[in-house]
Amino acid sequence: MEQYIIRGGNPLVGEVEISGAKNAALGILAAAIMTDDTVLIENLPDVRDINVLLEAMESIGVKVERITKHAVLMNSANVGEVSVDYEYIKKIRASYYLIGALLGKYKRAEVPLPGGCNIGSRPIDLHIKGFKALGAKVSIRKGFIIAEAEHLKGSHIYLDTVSVGATINIMMAAAMAEGRTIIENCAREPHVVDVANFLNSMGANIKGAGTDVIRIRGVQRLHKTEYSIIPDQIEAGTFMFAAAATKGDVMVKHVIPKHLEATTAKLLEIGCEVEEFDDAVRVVASKRLRSTNVKTLPYPGYPTDMQPQIGVTLALAAGTSIVTESIFENRFKYMDELARMGAVVRVEGNTAIITGVDKLSGARVSAPDLRAGAALVIAGLAAEGETVVDDIVYIQRGYEEFEEKLRSLGAEIERVNSDRAAQKFRLKLG
Ligand code: UD1
Repeated sequence: MEQYIIRGGNPLVGEVEISGAKNAALGILAAAIMTDDTVLIENLPDVRDINVLLEAMESIGVKVERITKHAVLMNSANVGEVSVDYEYIKKIRASYYLIGALLGKYKRAEVPLPGGCNIGSRPIDLHIKGFKALGAKVSIRKGFIIAEAEHLKGSHIYLDTVSVGATINIMMAAAMAEGRTIIENCAREPHVVDVANFLNSMGANIKGAGTDVIRIRGVQRLHKTEYSIIPDQIEAGTFMFAAAATKGDVMVKHVIPKHLEATTAKLLEIGCEVEEFDDAVRVVASKRLRSTNVKTLPYPGYPTDMQPQIGVTLALAAGTSIVTESIFENRFKYMDELARMGAVVRVEGNTAIITGVDKLSGARVSAPDLRAGAALVIAGLAAEGETVVDDIVYIQRGYEEFEEKLRSLGAEIERVNSDRAAQKFRLKLG
């Protein structure tokens, strides 16, 4: 089992390049199946979730050619199957985007029903509601969702909860339905816009992505395209908080600063300096951080995927902070780990009350999920002494070359898979 071993205490200083957005890429790769032409997708992050989705797509007949680490050519003219294997969905929930894409193109999809996950129960009732509204019959058999339709017909759909996944999935299916679809109470996340832009670049007619009403006029055919994925705002935000927690000075490059506004606002509130450039932000933390309150909300609110990163940072900020998680019910598991590093935290339901301490001290902790795992690495980098993070396979799902990027900023961190390798790291540091 691989682990990160970290010697904390160094401020992170320097420049870091952000990769393409994983969550946008998951939707875009699935949508690429909707044309028989060859599609070129660039700025693809080289992370486990993406590589698993590409494998899942190859398994149903998509031809995938990785032309560079970050670019892929895909051709779906010979998709012979519309049934995806459980092995893939087990590893990556977002393969449910294949339902919307396959249903839109082939009017039939069979995809295993994703279960819950570490951050909470993850229903897909709204995705199903949307497919049904478009005229599909949706049934659940032997753990599979089977969605099928003679024709998909445009419809007026209201989403009861703002859901990124349902918005993207319904938008994909509606892109090739007959007539007009209106989706109301949509998610407005940058990756919803990116998937819509990608579909439009293939000839779809989608308007309003990025607002809470999306209007789609269905088309019969989608065509080839070349598309570059937006930068990952969560990876960017993670490095911004790493700079803050370690009292560093980091230029986070290749980002869209507008997508980072909620994160930037919180960093300013806690006493960091944040300078915005055209495609970069610089975060400088030169004084003791201050407490603040934060509540996770759909975009443009503060992202749930950035909740653990601000949580660990507030553990070091003077005063008492309140963090409220309003999207997923089980996103505070990392708080127990953080307490083992000396943080003063109390979790009550969906609220965490954090009283900042001067210092955290290194400990052995486990990554409970992707973002909380990254946050515990930040805690380790800020802490005194040695931290070992177990279960880093979660972190590898969504962060490209995490340890290399951190090392380039002066972090002392190594990915190890044996006691011997850990010992070597310790000896190297002396
Ligand atoms: C996506 C992101 C995830 C992020 C989340 C919220 C991807 C691959 N993942 O997940 O990283 O944390 O958005 O920003 O992009 N809900 C329902 N019924 C549904 C669907 C969702 O009740 O059919 C609820 C969920 O339980 C949750 C809320 O809606 O409380 C938002 O979830 P949603 O936006 O759908 O999250 P995902 O798309 O799964």
